[in-house]
Amino acid sequence: MPNEIVSVEPLGPQTKSFVVRAPRVAARAQPGQFVVVRLHARGERIPLTLADWSAEDGTITLVVQEVGKTTLEMGASVDEGSELADVVGPLGEPSEILSEGTVVCVAGGVGIAPVYPIARALKEAGTHVIGIAGARSEDLLFWVDRLEEACHSLVITTDDGSAGRKALVTEPLAEILAARKIARVWAIGPAVMMKFCAQACAKAGVPITVSLNPIMVDGTGMCGACRAEVGGRVRFACVDGPEFAGDQVNWDLLIARLAAYREEERCALERYRRMVREAAA
Ligand SMILES: Cc1cc2nc3c(=O)[nH]c(=O)nc-3n(C[C@H](O)[C@H](O)[C@H](O)COP(=O)(O)OP(=O)(O)OC[C@H]3O[C@@H](n4cnc5c(N)ncnc54)[C@H](O)[C@@H]3O)c2cc1C
Ligand code: FES
Repeated sequence: MPNEIVSVEPLGPQTKSFVVRAPRVAARAQPGQFVVVRLHARGERIPLTLADWSAEDGTITLVVQEVGKTTLEMGASVDEGSELADVVGPLGEPSEILSEGTVVCVAGGVGIAPVYPIARALKEAGTHVIGIAGARSEDLLFWVDRLEEACHSLVITTDDGSAGRKALVTEPLAEILAARKIARVWAIGPAVMMKFCAQACAKAGVPITVSLNPIMVDGTGMCGACRAEVGGRVRFACVDGPEFAGDQVNWDLLIARLAAYREEERCALERYRRMVREAAA
C-alpha cells in the first residue's frame, strides 16, 4: 500500500512518531530535508521533516507535534495500517555535513526530530558533536537515547528543571562558545529560540545554521507562502532552504509572518473540533 502507516508511537502528551512506507523518499532522503504530507484528498498540505529513514525497509519516520487542525487530525485519526493520501519529497536542500572540527547541535522541543539525523551524519563524517536538547518540561523531551548516540556529549535543559539543567538552551550554548573553538552551530526549534541562538553565535563570532519553519503551501517554490528575508534578500524556505545562516535571517519578519493567519487557524481548529464532537454524538 503506498504511504501505509507502519507504526505510530506516542512520544509525549502532544507528539507522536509515524513510520510511513515511502520507498522512493527513503531512497533519496538526506539530513535537513522534509516532505509535504496530505492526510486525505481534502486535507491541507503540511511540511514535516524527515526525522529518520531506512532505504532498506523503504520507510521514513515523521515526528509530529499537534498544534492545529491538521496535526491534531493526524494524531487522532492516522493509525497503524492506515494510509496517507500524499507524501511528496524529499524536498529542500540537504544540510552541509562538515567532516572535521567541533560543532554544537541545539534542539528545542520538536526540533529534536530534525536535529537527530543531522547530528548523526556529522558524527559519522568525523565531526565532534556536542548536543544540547531543551524543552519546557521533561514530558516534552523525546529521543534522548537517540541523541546520546548521535552526539559525543549531550546537555539536557528544561525550563522548569524537571529534567537536566534548569535553563534555556542558550545558557549552555553561550558557555560552550566561550570555552572552546566551535566550527559551527546548528539550531532548530521555535523561531524565537533560533533567534537567540543566532545572537549568542554572532557575539562569539561563530557561524550558525538554522532551519526555518515558515508556513508552506506547495513546497516547490511556486506559491511564495514560505518567503523569508535572509541577508536582505527574499528567499523561499522550501527550495532555497530550509537551512540558512542564522545571523542573516530577519527574525522579526519571520515571527510576524508565522502569526499572520492565527484567526484562520483558530477557526479551522474550531470547525474540526465541532465536526469531531458532532460525529461522536
Ligand atoms: C520545513 C518544515 C519542516 C517542519 N517539520 C516539522 C516536524 O518535523 N514536526 C512538526 O511537528 N512540525 C513541523 N513543521 C511545522 C508544521 O508544518 C506545522 O506545525 C503544521 O503545518 C501546522 O499545521 P496545523 O494545521 O496543525 O496547524 P495550523 O492551524 O496551521 O497552525 C497552528 C499553530 O501552529 C503555528 N504554526 C503553523 N505553521 C507553523 C510552522 N511551519 N512552524 C511553526 N509553527 C507553525 C501557527 O502559528 C499556529 O499558532 C515544519 C515546518 C516546516 C516549514
Ligand atoms: S511553500 Fe510555496 S514557495 Fe515555498
